[in-house]
Amino acid sequence: MSFSVTDIRRDFPIFERTIRDGKRLVYLDSGATSQKPWAVINAETDFYTKHNAAVHRGAHQLAEEATDAYEGARAKVAGFIGAQPEEVIFTKSATESLNLVAYAMGNAESGNRFALGEGDEIVVSEMEHHANLVPWQQLAKRTGAKLSWFKVTSDARLDLTNIDEVITPRTKVVAITHQSNVLGTINPLDAIVKRAHEVGAVVVLDACQSVPHMPIDVAALGVDFLAFSGHKAIGPTGVGILWGRSPLLSELPPFLTGGSMVTSVTMTDATWAQAPQKFEAGVPNMAQAVGLGAACNYLTSIGMQAIRDHEIALTDYALKKLVEIAELNIIGPSTNESRGSTISFTINEIHPHDLGQFLDSQGIAVRTGHHCAWPLAKSMNVQSTTRASFYLYNNEEDVDVLVQGIQSAQKYFGRF
Ligand code: ALA
Repeated sequence: MSFSVTDIRRDFPIFERTIRDGKRLVYLDSGATSQKPWAVINAETDFYTKHNAAVHRGAHQLAEEATDAYEGARAKVAGFIGAQPEEVIFTKSATESLNLVAYAMGNAESGNRFALGEGDEIVVSEMEHHANLVPWQQLAKRTGAKLSWFKVTSDARLDLTNIDEVITPRTKVVAITHQSNVLGTINPLDAIVKRAHEVGAVVVLDACQSVPHMPIDVAALGVDFLAFSGHKAIGPTGVGILWGRSPLLSELPPFLTGGSMVTSVTMTDATWAQAPQKFEAGVPNMAQAVGLGAACNYLTSIGMQAIRDHEIALTDYALKKLVEIAELNIIGPSTNESRGSTISFTINEIHPHDLGQFLDSQGIAVRTGHHCAWPLAKSMNVQSTTRASFYLYNNEEDVDVLVQGIQSAQKYFGRF
């Protein structure tokens, strides 16, 4: 099954506008945030204009409708990733989802399977976005656990040659990215999950860059927790997802406490509701959750495999064109094997920020910098890169404009 990018763009109002003095918007920054279709914008508007009330509270019709819309969105998200609704927790962002797991583990008392202390180990990788690195560093500091990590090879893959030394019988948690937000590398989860489970550790997957771009079935992945953000998956900002296996969510202590996550409260103590409520203290981001439900429906209607196939073809085209440019270095896998549609690169003697500004003047939106993955940049021996990230609304014409833009920049900066 395939789709027409022209038809898709009609669903996304932002493509009706021009930028920088009438230039067509060539949006190549979906790795940072995606654009939104009318279906999502309308779902949010519809919630606010017709059903707005605090969910799970109130004895009136609006509260009932709001709760139905919110729980309906949970069921849609669950269906989208092959999960059960009670395993899906709404947060404000993927960053909050990952912090939730890390802080909740830090709250675990002795005897709880998540309790950490000296002698325990937490495993991450050099490839992590700061959101899946810093919370684990902080957890290690708070608990005395040791932080270990997989290194990245010069060909931009995780080095798993020493997997048995990195994941040891002392490892309690392995937090790893599914797809690098910088390199585009898709990591081989099977070996990591197998080794982690052999030693009784749980696997936390940062799926921010994979869930929006490929079919995901949490059962098939075999991981224990998975986090992603709504706004990278054509959904609204202000909503993220944490998925966890039911028995693990039952045992995991809460992170944020307050209203709606309790079964009883006295002046000195409280007892917790079951997941997902245990992890959703306070009035949640309801309209945003409903918008994310609409996003999942939209993506499903296009077909996640069709989106993946489209991006594979586009990445193939882009890699072939980019490697032909003199003095351009791909920072990431230069072949299309086990990689997503995020392509980072450097150009000799042109700073990424200068290139980014030049491309912007041509109507091309890319991201430049270390992409919130400082240790990864260091391990790849670069300070910063320019990153083009593609999605379902991009096509080969966008790649051609990018290539022309880079070549014009090279002339402008006096390289040729
Ligand atoms: N995490 C987002 C990115 O990689 C913002 O650009």
